Amino acid sequence: MMSRSLSRLALWAALLVTAVEPFSLDLPRPPPRMRFLQRSSQVKQSYDYVVVGAGTAGLTVADRLSADGKSTVLVVENGKIVDSPRIEQVFSGGAAMGPTFSYQITSVPQVNLQNRTTAVIAGNLVGGSSAINAMMTVRGTSDDYDRWGSFFGNDSHWSWEGLLPYFKRALNFVPPQSAVAESVNMTWDTSFWGNSSTVYTGWPSFQWPGLAEQIEAFQDIPGVEFPPDSGAGRAGVYWFPTLMDPKNVQRSYARTGHFDRINRTNFEVLTESRVTKILLEDGTATGVSFRQQTGNATVDTKVMAKKEVILAAGAIHSPQLLQLSGIGPKKLLQEAGINTTVDLPGVGQNFQDHPMMFMGITLRNFTTHPNPTDMFQNRNFSAWAQEVWEANKTGPYSMGIGNAAAWLGLPVISPDNFEAIATKLESQDHAAQLPPDTDPTVIAGYTAQMKNLASSMRTPNTAFYNHVLTGSGSSGTLVDLHPLSRGTVNINPSDPAGSPPVVDYRALSNEVDLDVMVEMLRFTSRYFFETRLSALSPRQTQPPNYVQEAADLAGYLRQTLSPTEFHPAGTCAMMPRELGGVVDEDLKVYGVRGLRVVDASIMPVLPGANTCQTVYAVAEKAADLIKADSG
Ligand SMILES: Cc1cc2nc3c(=O)[nH]c(=O)nc-3n(C[C@H](O)[C@H](O)[C@H](O)COP(=O)(O)OP(=O)(O)OC[C@H]3O[C@@H](n4cnc5c(N)ncnc54)[C@H](O)[C@@H]3O)c2cc1C
Ligand SMILES: *[C@@H]1O[C@H](CO)[C@@H](O)[C@H](O)[C@H]1NC(C)=O
Ligand SMILES: *[C@@H]1O[C@H](CO)[C@@H](O)[C@H](O)[C@H]1NC(C)=O
Ligand SMILES: *[C@@H]1O[C@H](CO)[C@@H](O)[C@H](O)[C@H]1NC(C)=O
Ligand SMILES: *[C@@H]1O[C@H](CO)[C@@H](O)[C@H](O)[C@H]1NC(C)=O
Ligand SMILES: *[C@@H]1O[C@H](CO)[C@@H](O)[C@H](O)[C@H]1NC(C)=O
Ligand SMILES: *[C@@H]1O[C@H](CO)[C@@H](O)[C@H](O)[C@H]1NC(C)=O
Ligand SMILES: *[C@@H]1O[C@H](CO)[C@@H](O)[C@H](O)[C@H]1NC(C)=O
Ligand SMILES: *[C@@H]1O[C@H](CO)[C@@H](O)[C@H](O)[C@H]1NC(C)=O
Ligand SMILES: *[C@@H]1O[C@H](CO)[C@@H](O)[C@H](O)[C@H]1NC(C)=O
Ligand SMILES: *[C@@H]1O[C@H](CO)[C@@H](O)[C@H](O)[C@H]1NC(C)=O
Repeated sequence: MMSRSLSRLALWAALLVTAVEPFSLDLPRPPPRMRFLQRSSQVKQSYDYVVVGAGTAGLTVADRLSADGKSTVLVVENGKIVDSPRIEQVFSGGAAMGPTFSYQITSVPQVNLQNRTTAVIAGNLVGGSSAINAMMTVRGTSDDYDRWGSFFGNDSHWSWEGLLPYFKRALNFVPPQSAVAESVNMTWDTSFWGNSSTVYTGWPSFQWPGLAEQIEAFQDIPGVEFPPDSGAGRAGVYWFPTLMDPKNVQRSYARTGHFDRINRTNFEVLTESRVTKILLEDGTATGVSFRQQTGNATVDTKVMAKKEVILAAGAIHSPQLLQLSGIGPKKLLQEAGINTTVDLPGVGQNFQDHPMMFMGITLRNFTTHPNPTDMFQNRNFSAWAQEVWEANKTGPYSMGIGNAAAWLGLPVISPDNFEAIATKLESQDHAAQLPPDTDPTVIAGYTAQMKNLASSMRTPNTAFYNHVLTGSGSSGTLVDLHPLSRGTVNINPSDPAGSPPVVDYRALSNEVDLDVMVEMLRFTSRYFFETRLSALSPRQTQPPNYVQEAADLAGYLRQTLSPTEFHPAGTCAMMPRELGGVVDEDLKVYGVRGLRVVDASIMPVLPGANTCQTVYAVAEKAADLIKADSG
């Protein structure tokens, strides 16, 4: 039974990437690593900080908090330490994304997607999703981060200016080699980057020449900007780097940056241990309970936190753990037989991910070589590619999923319809877009978000449209960067502790998403048929080019849309409590002392970008907030 969700995944992989077996190179083994524990008997009774989840955010925060050599930190991780060439491999970006290193959760059938289900993919190993992601290094626009602070008033420290120092701290940017940069007219500006982190972002030693043509064709579209750098906080068409260390041409991620190279007795990581509960005493989080499975035996152990418990289990599991611990929507907890410690209606609500859509447009007379098809169709080229990779780790095999894309606002892609779409969103019954019985505070938060997003639809610096460029003369994956539908991630009331969280994307539950996506499809057609690219004889096969009517395009989307780009977020939103928020501006959970959330779940609204770089920046800021409190 090959599920439809898996074939969707395969489609993404086929369109965006061409995963190949990694070469059997003599990969250098990782350096000796800091203390990692597997048995609960090795765990001390208490630590200053107990971090749940050794993923992207968890390892970043743990590294920073323990850097003083004194504060004791334990990170408890469900997965293992995994050494695999699939994780290290940069080429294609997709080698590690299958089920091997991920949780195996299936979403509920999506009623607006013909009841299709989707594989919910998130990393289940040390490094978390940063170990399996496609390594695209992108951040949102300044509007995206100013929007976060706007829900708290006008002088929140959550803003573009407030986050920029943390973007710089999070990653070590290594510029491209000048010959490669010149071959395709790449631009970058190091003033938006830092060079102190041990998580690297760099550039392949090769680019497809066709990318320059694809980028230049956007000059034919009024209003498209070409920011000098992907980190400039501006929408437009630009180059962006890859989350890899250019020295060894391998993935650089939370494990290599914040675990492998550290040797501190005050920083421990415990693997194969699932946190089942946050321990609460008189409104204070005092520690966690975790479970280990050894053969048939199940062992539950408690570990105490002298200062704080820090939740970094990701946007699928952080809300699950809060709910299991009695922090969440009272009605749901009652149904599940869990005593409510804090009635916090927002936990598990406000769930967002980036929907992905597919088009089939090919330039029949595209003759630029080499291009990605030469890896399969031109023996001479592919032999060369293999030779330079094996000799020097250079050439096409040093490329990830791509380094160039368009990120455009609604007025740019839909000058005729953006105003009507924004007005339609404003005049909607916002409560009717959420599940029945949604708490009034959550509705108020959603209403505030929709008000903000409607006005952002009228500005060029909130990107809705994302098109990853291929260099092959064919269309790439399209992503809706600011979906309006909101889903839920809730415990299963009939088996709260035993079954995985119930993930409902509620894709297309807000029909304005369809209006936006229809404009995205139409714009992509215009990009191929009404710019200089039209000289190369474009042909559209998917959806068929005679399909232009909005209703037909919407039908095509219901058939083919993926509700996820593997960017789950928003389920423990940083919003005021009266707007359904779960954490405050210091990332502290409302109604509890000594408990913060620091991962992708705190994003109130997704940024218009792949999420990993933002998670790193949020975690860097979280570490500063926690240190500022520790007195
Ligand atoms: C296939 C894929 C492709 C992606 N591509 C890109 C990309 O190209 N660019 C980009 O910017 N972003 C990409 N992303 C998204 C990005 O990687 C994530 O947004 C980010 O890594 C999330 O970080 P996090 O800290 O919130 O969660 P994670 O990094 O997922 O960490 C959560 C950790 O908590 C652990 N955990 C969960 N529950 C428990 C528990 N109860 N007890 C103990 N441990 C627990 C998990 O095992 C995991 O290690 C991709 C993601 C995926 C999955
Ligand atoms: C989807 O499932 C629901 C509930 O089972 C059913 O009522 C509906 O008809 C289904 N829709 C489609 C398109 O199959
Ligand atoms: C924020 O600023 C805007 C315009 O600058 C103003 O209209 C609004 O009243 C301010 N809001 C708060 C809460 O200060
Ligand atoms: C790079 O830009 C220059 C100047 O705009 C232009 O003449 C040249 O053709 C471009 N090269 C490529 C490969 O696009
Ligand atoms: C790192 O950045 C600093 C400040 O921008 C700069 O002075 C320094 O030259 C950079 N170092 C390297 C190795 O690039
Ligand atoms: C780790 O640090 C200890 C104490 O400083 C030292 O003895 C040991 O050699 C170090 N290990 C590694 C692998 O660097
Ligand atoms: C584990 O359980 C299985 C099934 O109940 C049993 O056959 C097996 O002997 C058990 N193993 C151990 C080590 O107890
Ligand atoms: C819920 O609280 C009541 C009263 O304090 C207690 O008797 C009961 O055991 C608790 N139930 C659970 C599941 O913790
Ligand atoms: C494509 O190019 C070929 C050869 O240059 C030419 O004969 C043909 O007419 C072109 N096709 C289209 C559809 O433009
Ligand atoms: C083979 O490929 C190399 C590298 O792309 C190129 O320099 C060379 O001209 C090609 N030779 C033939 C016969 O195509
Ligand atoms: C590998 O790099 C060296 C040094 O730059 C160069 O001389 C050699 O030709 C390269 N090997 C291949 C197969 O390209």
